[in-house]
Amino acid sequence: MFSDRLLQHLKNARSVAVLTGAGVSAESGVPTFRGEDGLWKKFKPEELASIDAFMANPDLVWEWYSERSRIIREKAPNSGHAALAEMESFFPEFTLITQNVDGFHRRAGSRNVLELHGNILFSRCVRCGVKSDKVESGMDRKDPLCACGGRMRPDVVWFGEPLPQDVLKKAFAASEICDVFLSIGTSAFVHPAATLPVVAKQAGAYVAEINSERTVLSDDLDETILGKSGEMLPRLVAELRNLIDRT
Ligand code: OAD
Repeated sequence: MFSDRLLQHLKNARSVAVLTGAGVSAESGVPTFRGEDGLWKKFKPEELASIDAFMANPDLVWEWYSERSRIIREKAPNSGHAALAEMESFFPEFTLITQNVDGFHRRAGSRNVLELHGNILFSRCVRCGVKSDKVESGMDRKDPLCACGGRMRPDVVWFGEPLPQDVLKKAFAASEICDVFLSIGTSAFVHPAATLPVVAKQAGAYVAEINSERTVLSDDLDETILGKSGEMLPRLVAELRNLIDRT
């Protein structure tokens, strides 16, 4: 199932970095972006996930985000999230970098989480920048306003926008120093997130991918494990637990 090389690298690792994408939440019932049933097959990102779209039609954008956050509130983290939360305790340094905006990693118990694309359960004022966790206001009223009079927007990164710089800096730093890097459930199409496994590899880390299909990065990484993260990650954690117990 898992190569000896991967297990030995993990056993000896001091620092591990993990990048997750929508595939990790697929088994929780949250749709991915690309692929057969992907969100971007049904909706146009430029009409929903850009500041221009929001300013032109905030009601429509809020409706879409409110619906997605409603789905996320109703769903729960899966066995893959739980396995990653447990994995954190095996290593002196463990950084979980996620492109997901669902907050499932924290809900599953992961502590050192870097949310590259924000969090859909929060909103932020376009004028004064204040954040709020009351996304429900976006459901009650389609175009919610901040106390300062500015528009509240979902606290997620949209196309054409920069990622939060402090978070991105930490993600690059973790990728550069880690001994093992795992890229899980991401198509690796969206940058700069997709650059992180490459940065880790160039810096000398052992880089493995866990995904239900091969990706654009597969040829450049040390190994690809094909399978569902909700099945593969608990198995990997069980093998690691055994290895660590035996030493
Ligand atoms: P994608 O939808 O592009 O890719 C999800 C990947 O997960 C695909 O390669 C699937 O084959 C794989 N997959 C599906 N189910 C899986 C499972 N159960 N176990 C393992 N792998 C599985 O999602 P991301 O790569 O996360 O950006 O997309 C990156 C960004 O594009 C998102 O963060 C979002 C989107 O536009 C923003 O919102 C800024």
